[in-house]
Amino acid sequence: MEKIIILDTTLRDGEQAPGASMTSFQKMEVAGQLEKLGVDIIEAGFPVASPDDFAAVSAIAKNAKKSAVCALARCINKDIEYAGRSVKKARHPRIHLFLATSKIHLKYKFKKAEDEIVAIASDSIRLAKKYCDDIEFSPEDATRTDKDFLFRMIEMAIDEGARTINIPDTVGYSYPQEIFGLIEDIKGNVKNINKAVIAIHCHNDLGLATANSLSAILAGARQVHCTINGIGERAGNASLEEIVMTMKTRKDVFGNFYTAIRTQELYPTSRLVSKVTGFIVPPNKAVVGRNAFAHESGIHQDAILKKRITYEIMDPRDVGISESSLVLGKHSGRHAFSHKLNTLGFHLDESRLNKAFLRFKNLADKKKNIFDDDLISIVEDEIRTVRPVWQLGNFTVTSGSEITPAATVNLKKKGKIYPGTSSGDGPVDACFKAIDKIVKIKAKLQDYRLEAVTAGKDALGEVSLKLISEGKTVSGRGSSTDIIESSVRAYLDAVNKLRIK
Ligand code: KIV
Ligand code: ZN
Repeated sequence: MEKIIILDTTLRDGEQAPGASMTSFQKMEVAGQLEKLGVDIIEAGFPVASPDDFAAVSAIAKNAKKSAVCALARCINKDIEYAGRSVKKARHPRIHLFLATSKIHLKYKFKKAEDEIVAIASDSIRLAKKYCDDIEFSPEDATRTDKDFLFRMIEMAIDEGARTINIPDTVGYSYPQEIFGLIEDIKGNVKNINKAVIAIHCHNDLGLATANSLSAILAGARQVHCTINGIGERAGNASLEEIVMTMKTRKDVFGNFYTAIRTQELYPTSRLVSKVTGFIVPPNKAVVGRNAFAHESGIHQDAILKKRITYEIMDPRDVGISESSLVLGKHSGRHAFSHKLNTLGFHLDESRLNKAFLRFKNLADKKKNIFDDDLISIVEDEIRTVRPVWQLGNFTVTSGSEITPAATVNLKKKGKIYPGTSSGDGPVDACFKAIDKIVKIKAKLQDYRLEAVTAGKDALGEVSLKLISEGKTVSGRGSSTDIIESSVRAYLDAVNKLRIK
């Protein structure tokens, strides 16, 4: 089996994502977690960029126990000096030098000829070697570089002592077959290539960073540059979790390779990076997104409960997520609903389960997110409600600032409909009075409380109230997304208890 070396550049290229800057303290916290995750090389920063970056790279270098620590430098003496000094205390220091080689960059950025670029790079590698032995060299914009010139640069860099040659797809322009061909061509055309490790560094401008990185591995790259959550310059870099989990999941393709990544640390690392950068992980992000192991469709939920692998290609525990979640929504079926109730500690008989399920479906039509508290509220309604003599058929209310509120309530008893109409001090009062007329009970409302069960505009409102009639006090509760309906349900709950008493 061959090892794929993981170079994590969250703290360097990841930090180049617009708005993602981290303090030195946060960088050290992330570096500690990256070591726990098992990355081989931490690219800790660009020391010449700022005193803070220099301090952060130096501190990470000093503290790293196992991972190599790498500092980035342009082919400029000052950069190399800063990079060299910053990683001096690392157990395994590395300097990563880069210089653009594509015609576009030579013409517009440097206004230099190819020979000049070769000379600058070779001087810089020689200088960097004075600071540390482990040098990685990147011909920036390699995928848009003329191939013969690229081969020449690589051969020179290896002759000067670079141990790793990184191939950056700097602007995320390439596609998997092309990357595969490029790595093969490098292996076939650079005479001394066997003396160096080939690395790949892909950007995600066309959403191909992970695919391109994996293609490079299949063609012969043995080190991969990546970031947590795929953060990085512009559309980001190849995402570490996607590369690692593809290799682990598709053993049929990547069975000859392994990484040192402890995959159970992927999710905690993703959370930490999201927290310190303030970059929210999209819910549908592969491997670590909130929805990556969540199932809403009833068909999927039913199958998952029978056998997880029907709709999951990875075990969530392998990436540090405790379990798949069955998200209850309008597509969910009875199987998932009853499973969820069981996990919440409710075991309903068939008839109550059916009623609760109907109410859940009604609620799901009105409310996008069904939380555990919503379910508890529905189920408690079903459990608590004494066998009702009176059941709610339907109701209508008219209300407004200029009219007297009025309500028509239709109650059901033994299959027959009983209508009642009343006006009132408000729509709730009108409903209560309409119910009083139907059930012919004189009751006094003693207490009335309305609470939102969950957050959001579509939250369930739960009403709890007390009724007194002929010296007897009973309580009632009801819930719905409509607070008038919650009130009517609570009132009826209490009325039914009064009848029994
Ligand atoms: O994308 C890129 O080319 C880089 C280099 C510094 C390697 O990040
Ligand atoms: Zn980059």
